Amino acid sequence: MRRPIIAGNWKMNKTKVEARELASRLRRDLHDVFDRDIVLCPPFTVLFAVWSEIEGSQIEMGAQNMVWEGPGAYTGEICGEMIKETGCQYVILGHSERRQYFKETDAIINKKLLKAFFYRLNPIVCVGETLKERESGRETEVVSAQIEGCFAGLSEEAMVKTVVAYEPVWAIGTGRTATPEQANEMHEYIRTVIAKLFGKDCAEKVRIQYGGSVKPDNVDEIMAQPDIDGALVGGASLKPEPFARIVRFENI
Ligand code: PGA
Repeated sequence: MRRPIIAGNWKMNKTKVEARELASRLRRDLHDVFDRDIVLCPPFTVLFAVWSEIEGSQIEMGAQNMVWEGPGAYTGEICGEMIKETGCQYVILGHSERRQYFKETDAIINKKLLKAFFYRLNPIVCVGETLKERESGRETEVVSAQIEGCFAGLSEEAMVKTVVAYEPVWAIGTGRTATPEQANEMHEYIRTVIAKLFGKDCAEKVRIQYGGSVKPDNVDEIMAQPDIDGALVGGASLKPEPFARIVRFENI
């Protein structure tokens, strides 16, 4: 049985006051939820502030990015050691916005991933095709290349700890979700690619989240799919009510 994992990606949102308010509300509203992992991913500037609100609770924290190096001369970057110190257990890597706006490649994501393990951070690695790639029927080809590139040189043990987030780029922030069946089909495919690279046992254990316009009114259906183990939530994670409802998805 794979333990569900719901993560909120706050992206480039929230001042310190707003972040503390949201985190403390979620701590209160979700105090009785223990059968799934809950992860908040605030921007770097408020990680310490959010941690001070959730420390001692079952809610965990993740950063949204990190550099592939240790401390040193990388002006403007943040390394795994610094992230770990804030209280984070997770780090999101290779989000499509980073691939698109900051030219992150699978090779860069791979270097970050290996470094994340060095600092004992569990990576949430995003993969997913663009609309153009889906329309030209290349979605599985694109996603399998991303998986091979991002996870190159990883041990089976590390792969099991890695969370994969399938986020079709055309469904992010657009209100347009993949149908639960479409999403599940890709999740199943991702599992076969992981099985080929790391073995069947590993593929069965790896958690695969879906991301892209997950909302309170579609989460139950999405989470009912057999190969979907969680959600990476953007827009709907910025307010306590919708995010708490998503975390409390119901088994249908
Ligand atoms: P969205 O974003 O829920 O706003 O579509 C998801 C994501 O980019 O992680």
